[in-house]
Amino acid sequence: MSSKDVEKTIEALLQERRTFAPPNSFSEQANIPDASVYEEATRDPDTWWESQAERLDWFEKWDTVREGEFPKHRWFIDGKLNASHNCLDRHLSSSGDRVAYHWIGEPGEKRSITYSELHEEVCRFADALKSLGVRKGDVVSIYLPMIVELPVAMLACARLGAAHSVVFGGFAAEALRDRINDAGCKVLITADGGYRRGQIVPLKESADTAVKGCPTIEKVVVVRRTGENVNWVEGRDVDYRSLVQDGSVDCEAEPMDSEDMLFVLYTSGTTGKPKGIVHITGGYLTGVSSTHRNIFDIKPDTDVYWCAADIGWVTGHSYIVYGPLANGCTSILYEGAPDWPDKDRWWSIIEEYGVTILYTAPTAIRTFMKWGTEHPGKHDLSSLRLLGSVGEPINPEAWVWYQEFIGGGKTPVVDTWWQTETGAIAISALPGVTTLKPGSATKPYPGVFADVFNDAGEPVGRGGGGYLVLTRPLPSMFRTILGDEQRYLDTYFAKYGEKVYFPGDGAKLDEDGYFWLLGRVDDVMNVAGHRISTYEVESALVDHPAVAEAAVVGRKHPQEGETIVAFVTPRAGYDGTEELLSELRDHVAKVIGKIARPRSIVFTDDLPKTRSGKIMRRLLRDVAEGRELGDVTTLQNAPILDEIREKSATLTDPE
Ligand code: WTA
Repeated sequence: MSSKDVEKTIEALLQERRTFAPPNSFSEQANIPDASVYEEATRDPDTWWESQAERLDWFEKWDTVREGEFPKHRWFIDGKLNASHNCLDRHLSSSGDRVAYHWIGEPGEKRSITYSELHEEVCRFADALKSLGVRKGDVVSIYLPMIVELPVAMLACARLGAAHSVVFGGFAAEALRDRINDAGCKVLITADGGYRRGQIVPLKESADTAVKGCPTIEKVVVVRRTGENVNWVEGRDVDYRSLVQDGSVDCEAEPMDSEDMLFVLYTSGTTGKPKGIVHITGGYLTGVSSTHRNIFDIKPDTDVYWCAADIGWVTGHSYIVYGPLANGCTSILYEGAPDWPDKDRWWSIIEEYGVTILYTAPTAIRTFMKWGTEHPGKHDLSSLRLLGSVGEPINPEAWVWYQEFIGGGKTPVVDTWWQTETGAIAISALPGVTTLKPGSATKPYPGVFADVFNDAGEPVGRGGGGYLVLTRPLPSMFRTILGDEQRYLDTYFAKYGEKVYFPGDGAKLDEDGYFWLLGRVDDVMNVAGHRISTYEVESALVDHPAVAEAAVVGRKHPQEGETIVAFVTPRAGYDGTEELLSELRDHVAKVIGKIARPRSIVFTDDLPKTRSGKIMRRLLRDVAEGRELGDVTTLQNAPILDEIREKSATLTDPE
């Protein structure tokens, strides 16, 4: 189809302002076929969540469903369970031969691993971790590419009752070092490298650099993925494969308290220091397995489900590892880039494996739109019956394109709003029940109480806009920030008093009570679906000797959501040259990772500031996006803005 025809189709669909009622054929077979569940869950949310917890295998049942409100809520009190047992052991008798993951390496290798095989490998590795001194309550750092050994490592930790801290493979050495030190890890699990766009990502090299600054690390387990020669530290480095060979298959799953930590996952906040988001066992597993089953309408016997995120982010934790495995379903695990070797890689995977459910991010969808319909058009995608979206607001054009050209115009598209902090999806359609509106995440999941408040903390009501809030705790919510309870309270429970959770997103409610998410209202950027704080990038920039001061803003980008623009004042003796520009970009990539590298840098003698010296990022955002300037009355150095504006006039987004 030509790009003109694509535009025409989308325009026609949008002009109708169509809503999409669930097709009868879908509702009839759906796990949740009608709306009664909403009434049930609203009337008695704790009993509803209890029914969801009962879908798991507990070694000991809870006494009380819930104690406490935000910010100190606890769920399934005194219940005992193990996440690894729930994801593996309990499926063995009924479906041990079912494939857990069809793994596809970027260079083209394939490996399908059944639940029995996964169970065996997890047990052996867990047993081997014991021999390295890993104990219940420890935090183990994991820095791996998208290979089967990544979920194996996570589940092995969970089996022993050790928490894992997975660090996304795209992060650089310093980011890894800080995360290891924050959690005080003794063991790091990494690989020689991984593949991305035909290149080798040298993970071991970064890990070695990181560990130089990590006094607590005693052992580094190395998975051989690429087979490249890597530096080897005798006595510290251990080969994964030989550990697994030596480990025993008899490794019982440790009974964990419902409220015991399952993992920590770092995410960006509004300061330079990432936050260690702490998730616990019982509530988290209840939330992810329930939402996964009901929102993706999972039929474990027949579905081939693909969440195309990276396990290094929360989406992968919840919807590649814990949700799908707890539900015993078959997933795709793909290592590499969507355009390697060609721009139809995903569509060829869907055709080959008969994928039925695809879950991805708007940034990917918009990129596929740009690449053109000929790539999906080459493949038979008729196995798809449901599509999902996550990570940022999906614009209606992308939604409609996704449904039309990937879903064959027939599949429901569930737009799912949630966060690292909520652990599981909090706002989303139920595909057999909800009438969809492109661009809206629709309604809170059963048992989730969301609202939109104004600045004064009053509900704005239907038709109004303001800040998204959650007014009642849900089991899968995080419990604290690792080692920083005060920051937990200050960040999330200060705006509206401690009974109301403030996620940091703007939202509006339409006349039907549908939620429309509007993006972050704080200094957190959303770059290609990844959360990056302006402060993190600014700290990395001012860390460079040539930089006196830096301000960073997000600039709207048609594919990536936002790109990063930095305004930098060089120190005396340094000039804002092209060389410095590329040096600074490299510097940020080195400190944080390539994902945080500013797309553009504008050098300026000064930054716009309030009289109290606070940088006015809001105005810089206006400049970066070429808008009329907002209120400038509190600005102390107005003339600098004209200068910055002139220099920014040529800001363009490279194709
Ligand atoms: C944004 C990713 C609009 C939001 C699961 C949130 C969304 C942040 C959506 C969390 C959506 C996520 N519509 N915005 N469907 N999903 N967001 O922690 O701003 O990486 O606060 O979790 O992404 O990002 P995080």
